[in-house]
Amino acid sequence: MRSAEMDAFIARVRDASDILSVVASYVPLKKKGRNYWGCCPFHSEKTPSFSVAPEKGFFYCFGCHAGGNVFKFISMIENISYFDAIRVQAEKLGISMPDREKSKKDIEKERKIVDLQRMMEMAQAFFHNCLVKTRYGTAGLRYFAGRGIGADVIEEFGLGFAPDAPGKLRDAFKKRGVSEQLLMEAGLVTERPNGLYDKFRNRIMIPIADDRGRVVGFGGRVLGDGQPKYLNSPETLLFNKRRLLFGLDRAKKAIREAGKVILVEGYMDAISLAAAGIKNVAASLGTAFTAEQCRLLLRYADEICFCYDSDEAGQRATMRALSIVRATGARAQVLIVPDGKDPDEFVRKHGADAFRELSKEARSIGDFHLEYVQRINDIRTLDGKNKALKALLPVLKESGPVEQNDYIQRLRSTLGIDEGIIRQEIAMYSDDGLKAEYRLGAKRHSVYMADDAVRQAGRALLRMAWHDPGVAVMVVAELGSEPFPYRLHEKLFRYMAECAETNVFPSDEAIEETLGAEAQEELCHALTEDTPEEKGSYEVFVRVLLLAQLKKAFEEHRLRADVMEREGNSNFLQELTKSQRIKQKIDELNQQTKLKETNE
Ligand code: UTP
Ligand code: MN
Repeated sequence: MRSAEMDAFIARVRDASDILSVVASYVPLKKKGRNYWGCCPFHSEKTPSFSVAPEKGFFYCFGCHAGGNVFKFISMIENISYFDAIRVQAEKLGISMPDREKSKKDIEKERKIVDLQRMMEMAQAFFHNCLVKTRYGTAGLRYFAGRGIGADVIEEFGLGFAPDAPGKLRDAFKKRGVSEQLLMEAGLVTERPNGLYDKFRNRIMIPIADDRGRVVGFGGRVLGDGQPKYLNSPETLLFNKRRLLFGLDRAKKAIREAGKVILVEGYMDAISLAAAGIKNVAASLGTAFTAEQCRLLLRYADEICFCYDSDEAGQRATMRALSIVRATGARAQVLIVPDGKDPDEFVRKHGADAFRELSKEARSIGDFHLEYVQRINDIRTLDGKNKALKALLPVLKESGPVEQNDYIQRLRSTLGIDEGIIRQEIAMYSDDGLKAEYRLGAKRHSVYMADDAVRQAGRALLRMAWHDPGVAVMVVAELGSEPFPYRLHEKLFRYMAECAETNVFPSDEAIEETLGAEAQEELCHALTEDTPEEKGSYEVFVRVLLLAQLKKAFEEHRLRADVMEREGNSNFLQELTKSQRIKQKIDELNQQTKLKETNE
């Protein structure tokens, strides 16, 4: 928690800041309606979807969903922390900072981060020197040479080598006064009964940087066939595999220029491609692709081309990654390397031009899915056909009408399933609420379109609640304890209601802190949106939410009744009654609406 003094300081800096002039110094803007529009600096685009609402003090990109206040903008565009952005802006405006601004815990944590950072830089230099300047490095240099990696690439990626000795790094760092505690926390040494040992030994060392280029961890590869193939730094305050992408710091510019990022599985794939001159490449760190990584990439380009290993595991990982991408609304392609297991092998065997040629043949998500389900199921059998169709339902459900029709036609001819049956299956396939929440922001998809009125109503209410938190209290009271149509909105309303009840004014910083970045972005979406309030009043919007809530409950009970009936469970009648009661409520609500409209 921040001190009241600090809060007051932040508020002063924010009030004195003019978000419009700050943004305009980076991005050309044009006025349209109440807001100003330009091309988003955080992802590549040709038509402006980046908007600034100066009266409210927020920006929001309708393309990549980056959003926030003036500090968030500065921190993103300058690649500095949120806190540093406040500091920078305060300095610019000549507002001086209060002295004791941070709690002891904050100070400690910040110091630890600084220490860890320094330690990682030192370690990177240490491993690199071992490789290029000492006799220990001979084995490493030989290994790199064997994989076609020369001095220039070693320099470019700051590659290194961990000596084949128990404690070279330990001794060197202790001599420089580094504490054992810190060495352990950084994951550079491990504790054994008789003391500390270097964690990385006899491995080539690949430094992993965050997107600002600061080394935060290492991947160490064995020279031969030993296990584990890669030893990675443990999770630390700095190193979080789910949030990082290897190579992104170097590739950013090329990704922006290409409007597309090639995402590979392995460190060596990213290094090899970059060495061959294909620079718009990043790699995940041996974990499944995450929504956080997706959003990170979307800052630089709105298309991701997955180029994973062509073996079964790589293809399965691609399927999983695509489902993440679908949830965020990004565009994606799949590139399958035909000859050789992975992009590294391919580009070394056939060269960069061959790889570029190949990328022209990247498959669309749909093609990839169709091919994939046909490959893993025996579609000559009835069971196989069924499984293939089932596996495709989520994709079919979410594609736009034209795309969907195209798939259906192709499925019909390849699987030999009747078009009517396919359509029926799609209609019956229902998403669970969690997935719907996840999909927030996926504006391109049809499910989304249908839900947009509900989301918009939710956002209109969020906007009202932002100015008068009492509104949130009312919304929460009206929707009761049942789930809201959108969980993200629910979190925001409940939080704001709590604020109102405890008499604190909600701040977007506090919202990001307690509810997470996605909630904060949705709030900015709400505040920046230019939907005319005249379209509806508080009552109209609440009714939209209520109806959506009831409809969802109705469908759930009816579905459950269906299933129970089919299973021969006689309790299905209860479910049916429940669903009918809800249906009645829906009708009443609709009736009231009509009455109201005729009265008005
Ligand atoms: P790969 O085995 O495909 O790695 O695993 P690679 O980079 O192609 O390695 P080479 O070409 O055989 O040298 C993909 C990624 O999974 C993670 C690493 O991030 C690796 O780059 N991984 C793999 C681990 O973290 N630990 C392992 O033991 C293996
Ligand atoms: Mn490989």
